[in-house]
Amino acid sequence: MTQIVVLPHSELCPEGVVVEADAGKSICENLLANGVELDHACEMSCACTTCHVIVREGFNSLEPAEEVEEDLLDKAWGLEPNSRLGCQAIVGETPLVIEIPRYSINMAKEGRK
Ligand code: FES
Repeated sequence: MTQIVVLPHSELCPEGVVVEADAGKSICENLLANGVELDHACEMSCACTTCHVIVREGFNSLEPAEEVEEDLLDKAWGLEPNSRLGCQAIVGETPLVIEIPRYSINMAKEGRK
């Protein structure tokens, strides 16, 4: 067990939240299991980028991204050096602090604010 601190996101967790996370599961799985509805339009098959998160602390504890994840991330809205796809980044024993970008490509397409 470790923890993921999710920084405030206006829709998904306005106050931010700390979730108990299982090592060996992805960031996305851990958030969903704890009621944070991170988008996952491709059902976590590494084909969409809607699960994009920015890892503010603990980034280096994660296994490096595979090439297919890197390629997809290039298309994500708001890409940063510490960006990962939430469905591909597997949580280890190190606590993480993550930020969910304001938009995903789905939202940007729909013009949501
Ligand atoms: S859910 Fe689609 S890439 Fe992660």
